Amino acid sequence: MLVVTEDLVKVYKLGKVEIPALRGVSLDIEEGEFLGIFGPSGSGKSTLLHLIGVLDLPTSGRVIIEGVDVSKLNEDKRAELRAKKIGFVFQFFNLIPRLNALENVALPMAFMGVPRSERRERALKLLDLVDLRDRWNHKPNELSGGEEQRVAIARALANDPSIILADEPTGNLDSKTGKEIVNLFKRLNEEEGKTIVIVTHDQTIAEVCRRIIYLRDGVIYKEVVK
Ligand SMILES: Nc1ncnc2c1ncn2[C@@H]1O[C@H](COP(=O)(O)OP(=O)(O)O)[C@@H](O)[C@H]1O
Ligand SMILES: [Mg+2]
Repeated sequence: MLVVTEDLVKVYKLGKVEIPALRGVSLDIEEGEFLGIFGPSGSGKSTLLHLIGVLDLPTSGRVIIEGVDVSKLNEDKRAELRAKKIGFVFQFFNLIPRLNALENVALPMAFMGVPRSERRERALKLLDLVDLRDRWNHKPNELSGGEEQRVAIARALANDPSIILADEPTGNLDSKTGKEIVNLFKRLNEEEGKTIVIVTHDQTIAEVCRRIIYLRDGVIYKEVVK
């Protein structure tokens, strides 16, 4: 199993107020899956994705990635695991404004110590994969929203991660552009064998997911396998 979550509980504390975001989520994710996580706003989708992506730690329960219990790793090892194994895609793209597309894609490779010439070559290949090779020199503000998201997807692939986690990746795009992004994820899953987990409200994404889990009030209440 690529990812196993065991009875994940996450309680946020705001001063004296405790906010239960997840109340016991157990989930297995297999290699090669295309999994959708649906649910209303506030149901815990982003929290779950952040825990799977080792951006945060649960209050209780465990996240096991390729057999490694994340809670047993120190901060440095967690950062390393995140850089090597996880690719993130966000609703607002989160590209670095002063870097061009190529530099944005190459950045995670620098963190892993990949030599400069190799970074450039690989970043160009990834831009090619998302059909943006001819935009390599554009800064984010010189790209459309859909193009920015494709750069962000190329960046997520930089270190050849085991899993791509996307949090409402079409939430800031018009429906036509959103469909193109959905098709890109589908292609990455079917042709490149990438494991993809998408958190979304977007029904066009539901059509391409092979499994969907539904969250409500911090628990999974339904699962659909196609
Ligand atoms: N950093 C945080 N601090 C406090 N409460 C949070 C934090 N992040 C999320 N929450 C709360 O946890 C619950 C789940 O949030 P979230 O996982 O973002 O849901 P979703 O992504 O489904 O909209 C919500 O009630 C939200 O307000
Ligand atoms: Mg969210």
